[in-house]
Amino acid sequence: MKKMVMVTIFILFVFYCFGSTPKPKRVGSDTCTMCHDTIESQIDKTPHSPKKGVQCEDCHGPGSVHADDPSPKNIFSFKEKSPKSIFEKCKKCHKGMHKSWSSHFLSGESCLNCHDMWHSEEENIKDKSIPTEGLLKVESTQLCLKCHTTQQNEFNKPFHHEFKGVGNSCIQCHNPHKSRKELRPRKMSKKCASCHPDMSGPFIYVHLGTQYEGCIECHKPHGSTNPNLLTRSPTRFLCLSCHVDTPSFHDLSNPKYENCTSCHSAIHGSNVSSKFFE
Ligand code: HEC
Ligand code: HEC
Ligand code: HEC
Ligand code: HEC
Ligand code: HEC
Ligand code: HEC
Ligand code: HEC
Ligand code: HEC
Ligand code: HEC
Ligand code: HEC
Repeated sequence: MKKMVMVTIFILFVFYCFGSTPKPKRVGSDTCTMCHDTIESQIDKTPHSPKKGVQCEDCHGPGSVHADDPSPKNIFSFKEKSPKSIFEKCKKCHKGMHKSWSSHFLSGESCLNCHDMWHSEEENIKDKSIPTEGLLKVESTQLCLKCHTTQQNEFNKPFHHEFKGVGNSCIQCHNPHKSRKELRPRKMSKKCASCHPDMSGPFIYVHLGTQYEGCIECHKPHGSTNPNLLTRSPTRFLCLSCHVDTPSFHDLSNPKYENCTSCHSAIHGSNVSSKFFE
């Protein structure tokens, strides 16, 4: 009997504590920055500034309870949150992002593995080369290479894509918010075409149509030990990997026929020669 009373009192107590907890309301960013004054000057340098219409509580949730009784426990902090719950906060405004479109998200990387909200002064001073632009944690090529070490090795090869003056290299070809679909040859060949229109046509006589993999049938996109980023070297090995029976007058023991592109020089396609001579 005594036990029953105790349990009832306990339940009522719990109910009192939680049932009476007021639902948090919004108090406005000015209240937050009264206490968190170091954040304001930093966040003002980013697009997420209250001055630009993005409020603290848009990301951290209503904060009246926290403002009355400050504790890390009664405010949404991003610490140790799942990628999904982090994404829920961001996607309110960044509707263009969708988790199922992103390979990174599907492999458990959160927005905050790459982005930093620039709240802390230390971070800004620590490394002046950190770009505020894009709110990235580190310069973006370095960011990619932190996780993609295999690609680092490829870019270290003697022949590699180098975009002097074009800016970051990886995002020239990859959108980190998108999925594997982007790697489909047709899509990738379009990317290549945007910088190499001479090699992409359209041509009347196309060498490799879209039934093949396009540019990466013959080129390594990141880097290669072969000149011109070719997949094989010397070049005739590449040609002969597909053209197993060249016309019989091609005497392959004769040095004259060694360099295929000395005659078939318009190797990407031509508007005049179906055999790609010019
Ligand atoms: C009265 C002062 C005060 C006000 C007003 C205040 N905070 Fe806090 N806040 C604190 C203190 C104190 C902490 C705890 C710091 C600690 O433990 O290191 C804190 C911690 C936090 C944390 C970190 C939680 C964590 O896990 O470390 C966040 C996020 C936060 N506040 C956001 C806000 C937001 C958003 C507002 C406005 C709605 C706000 N605060 C208003 C004093 C305040
Ligand atoms: C765009 C979303 C966003 C906005 C707007 C925002 N924050 Fe944050 N805040 C975050 C994220 C994400 C973190 C987790 C740490 C990080 O990645 O920088 C964080 C961390 C914090 C922390 C913990 C700080 C720490 O270094 O541990 C505090 C305190 C905080 N925010 C307060 C504020 C205040 C005050 C404002 C308004 C001036 C604000 N935040 C605006 C997203 C936001
Ligand atoms: C209340 C709306 C809002 C929320 C929530 C929000 N953002 Fe933003 N964010 C903006 C606006 C507005 C801009 C500036 C315009 C733009 O680029 O779309 C922006 C810009 C950005 C940029 C580009 C910065 C630049 O310099 O180009 C990044 C990265 C970003 N937000 C990441 C995040 C992440 C990560 C979250 C979740 C933690 C988040 N945002 C939550 C409104 C928001
Ligand atoms: C793998 C790293 C990575 C992840 C994960 C990531 N981003 Fe980005 N994000 C980038 C890079 C790199 C840029 C490009 C910055 C530039 O253009 O210089 C960028 C740009 C942005 C921009 C501004 C340009 C644009 O495309 O609109 C927004 C907004 C943004 N990210 C939001 C997010 C949100 C929200 C998430 C979580 C769903 C997220 N990002 C996850 C790396 C990442
Ligand atoms: C010139 C365009 C281009 C550039 C620049 C580029 N990539 Fe790629 N990347 C590609 C293509 C094309 C593929 C598909 C290759 C294939 O399927 O053989 C690819 C594939 C990948 C893959 C998937 C590999 C796999 O085996 O599944 C990763 C990861 C990757 N790239 C990361 C990077 C990183 C990191 C950088 C910057 C250091 C970078 N890429 C720069 C075009 C590029
Ligand atoms: C925090 C670690 C991390 C960072 C930073 C990162 N990636 Fe990834 N990336 C991954 C993981 C994990 C996968 C999925 C597994 C895999 O294919 O390697 C992936 C996959 C990829 C793929 C293959 C696409 C697919 O659909 O499978 C490409 C391309 C890629 N990343 C490009 C980038 C680029 C560009 C950047 C820089 C803007 C970047 N990554 C930054 C971890 C990262
Ligand atoms: C953002 C522009 C850009 C994109 C996209 C791009 N390239 Fe390039 N590419 C360049 C520039 C600039 C050079 C010349 C500088 C250099 O050697 O890196 C180059 C050089 C090359 C070379 C000659 C390399 C050598 O050793 O001389 C080949 C082959 C090549 N690209 C193929 C490709 C393929 C295949 C793709 C698509 C997967 C592609 N490129 C996408 C800008 C681009
Ligand atoms: C059938 C194989 C093949 C395909 C497919 C192919 N290339 Fe090439 N590419 C070559 C060969 C071989 C060379 C070297 C030419 C030479 O030996 O003179 C070359 C050279 C290049 C160069 C350097 C040329 C220069 O003059 O600097 C670029 C850039 C290039 N290719 C881009 C592309 C792009 C973009 C695509 C896709 C639209 C593509 N290639 C598709 C075989 C190919
Ligand atoms: C990935 C396989 C592949 C590679 C590598 C390749 N080719 Fe081809 N090539 C083809 C195919 C398939 C055709 C037929 C195109 C068609 O019928 O539309 C063709 C057509 C040709 C033709 C015209 C033949 C005709 O019947 O009109 C010549 C010439 C040629 N290739 C030379 C070369 C040379 C030289 C190389 C090396 C630089 C090379 N090819 C590399 C697949 C390849
Ligand atoms: C000295 C110049 C020369 C060199 C070098 C050369 N070719 Fe040819 N190639 C020709 C001529 C000429 C034709 C016939 C054109 C015609 O029939 O109108 C031809 C035709 C072809 C054809 C088309 C066959 C068909 O069915 O019509 C292919 C494929 C081909 N060559 C591949 C190669 C390969 C692979 C190499 C390198 C191992 C190579 N060629 C080197 C001159 C050359």
